[in-house]
Amino acid sequence: MILVTGGAGFIGANFIYEWIEQESAPVINLDKLTYAGNRHNLKGLENNSQYTFVQGDILDRKLIQELLHRYQPKAVVHFAAETHVDRSIDDPDVFVQTNIMGTVHLLEECLNYWKKLDDRAKNDFHFLHMSTDEVYGTLKATDLSSKEKSPFDPSSPYAASKAASDHFVNAFHHTYGLPTLIAHSSNVFGPYQFPEKLIPLTIVNAIQGKPIPLYGDGLNIRSWIYVKDLCGALRYVLRSGSLGEAYNISEDMEKTNKNIVETICAILDQLHPNSSQSPYASLIQYITDRPGHDRRYSLNSNKIRNELGWQPKGDFESKLHQTVKWYLNNGEWLQKIMNGSYQNWIKDHYPHKQIVK
Ligand SMILES: NC(=O)c1ccc[n+]([C@@H]2O[C@H](COP(=O)([O-])OP(=O)(O)OC[C@H]3O[C@@H](n4cnc5c(N)ncnc54)[C@H](O)[C@@H]3O)[C@@H](O)[C@H]2O)c1
Repeated sequence: MILVTGGAGFIGANFIYEWIEQESAPVINLDKLTYAGNRHNLKGLENNSQYTFVQGDILDRKLIQELLHRYQPKAVVHFAAETHVDRSIDDPDVFVQTNIMGTVHLLEECLNYWKKLDDRAKNDFHFLHMSTDEVYGTLKATDLSSKEKSPFDPSSPYAASKAASDHFVNAFHHTYGLPTLIAHSSNVFGPYQFPEKLIPLTIVNAIQGKPIPLYGDGLNIRSWIYVKDLCGALRYVLRSGSLGEAYNISEDMEKTNKNIVETICAILDQLHPNSSQSPYASLIQYITDRPGHDRRYSLNSNKIRNELGWQPKGDFESKLHQTVKWYLNNGEWLQKIMNGSYQNWIKDHYPHKQIVK
């Protein structure tokens, strides 16, 4: 039995499907169901006795105590967070509450629970915290990729909140001995991602014939990982990671945002030709850059590859192709998400951005 937080979100939902399929072990999913959480993501497990959903907040200590006491999980996998950089620029407070305070509450309750376990259960228990490459801050073109020991230098309120939560996770290991693990992932893509992030936003806008926004000159660089590869990597970390350690998880490749968007447009031209015959790339619109937009993230993932023997499967382009196909084939899922609050956010967020090209 494991307790997953934020399992109704993008990565959490993929992780729970994979966990139940690969490990055949039960999961409790604690999720507040914010705008980004969607019970429909786990529809495929509705009648599965291995899966239990609990709607609740990681800030609710009493609920966490009850869940830990009742289900006695052997691991907590912590995904729950506010995750969109643009939203953190508009409203940092909720990022402090959920990402920092929520993580600290969870750590405290896990520590209380862990201390009372017998020696065997204590040894088995793990707290796996999901973090990001953004905590290392921006890199110059000539800088080497960030390693796990690279200093933290977060730029956005989102990255700052994740860095703070990482420090607390490490502090709980060093100070109290809580058996923690941290995973720093590069940008993730795949099924069930809320269409506010680059890849699903591009796909969704393109198929609706709407402008595809690209910040600045579009040449910001990110490395990427397919969500199924990431979920596999997280299981490696849980199974064999060294306690108190962090692991970078990435495909060790870099792409500009422009390249990603143009590749998606080309895939759509093939899979779903535009009725007006014009290529989807004609919808690309360059808009005023995001304030403080980090230029480049790049992760060195040698540690997980060399020490734990993990590596991603397949090539990036075919995984991007599969992702585009998934969105095309899951119109019903998309329709349910594209409700008023999503439309309002997109409407409120993008009109402030000037078109620059
Ligand atoms: N998506 C990426 O590219 C990426 C990259 C690196 C790291 N991460 C990290 O991975 C984790 C998951 O990211 P994601 O993309 O799946 O996010 P997401 O936004 O899709 O999902 C977040 C989930 O957390 C839930 N949640 C939010 N606040 C909560 C609270 N107070 N209590 C309980 N549940 C709450 C939401 O309802 C939602 O289901 C996050 O910690 C994020 O920082 C994401």
